[in-house]
Amino acid sequence: MKTNTPQDDDQSYVIELKNVGQSYPDREDVIKDVSFTVDCDKGDNKFVVILGPSGCGKSTLLRYISGLQVPTKGGVFLHGKPITNETIVGMVFQKYSSLPWYTVLENVALGLELQGVPSKERNQRAMEMIKTVDLMGQENKHAHYPILSGGQLQRVAIARSLLASPKILLMDEPFGALDVKTRLHMQEMLKAIMSKMSDMTVVFVTHDIPEAVFLGDEILIMDSNPGRIVEKITVNLPENRTKEIKREAKFVKMVYDIEDKMESLSK
Ligand SMILES: Nc1ncnc2c1ncn2[C@@H]1O[C@H](COP(=O)(O)OP(=O)(O)O)[C@@H](O)[C@H]1O
Ligand SMILES: [Mg+2]
Repeated sequence: MKTNTPQDDDQSYVIELKNVGQSYPDREDVIKDVSFTVDCDKGDNKFVVILGPSGCGKSTLLRYISGLQVPTKGGVFLHGKPITNETIVGMVFQKYSSLPWYTVLENVALGLELQGVPSKERNQRAMEMIKTVDLMGQENKHAHYPILSGGQLQRVAIARSLLASPKILLMDEPFGALDVKTRLHMQEMLKAIMSKMSDMTVVFVTHDIPEAVFLGDEILIMDSNPGRIVEKITVNLPENRTKEIKREAKFVKMVYDIEDKMESLSK
């Protein structure tokens, strides 16, 4: 079972945001004084979900962790250090991000190609990942809609991100554009993939409460005006979750409790 200790020998957290704030020339305090840490025990994984209303700053927090944006106040540290170009952070967005003129295989292998890995090795490793995300038989199709479905395109993006072996994977509403059935299937698939990984921290943004409870080890609830974290919840459910757990009283209660909490937030 997980304990609440930092991962590395140097006792640093995988992710640490310290008193982070964001202002824009025309808008003060879009995000105000956000501090949190994420740790992940060696050999384990950690799945943190950020839940909050539209516009509260969820994507902004992910951009900080990816290094795409620097906050106007405070600091962001990964494994105890400020973010550099060498930091490998994977990202999966809601919008399909594959290159449509590349095949599934080429898209999945893209990161390795950019790293200069020879084609035989990168194709072999990409095919293993294609198998992991259940896309066998699709590898030579072009990665665009409607040749591939939305769910399949998101699997391509997940496979591509995972192949770079990031220690941190950021997912910004990755299943937000999918139909309900596909979405539920993708949640299960992601949980199953995670159970085969180790030392990986995922930060996942959603505004779907059951999705947050199903996937998360921890849930950070945000509110807006100013964007801030109002509650941190530990999800005390078994680590190996299949869809049956959504029928269990403990799961249902947790969903209702979070719903009540979010309803009580500022409108
Ligand atoms: N360049 C900008 N100038 C002013 N406000 C901005 C700018 N970029 C983003 N914002 C505002 O920051 C807030 C947080 O945005 P975002 O992180 O995308 O929210 P979320 O992902 O939670 O929907 C939003 O209210 C957005 O309008
Ligand atoms: Mg967003």
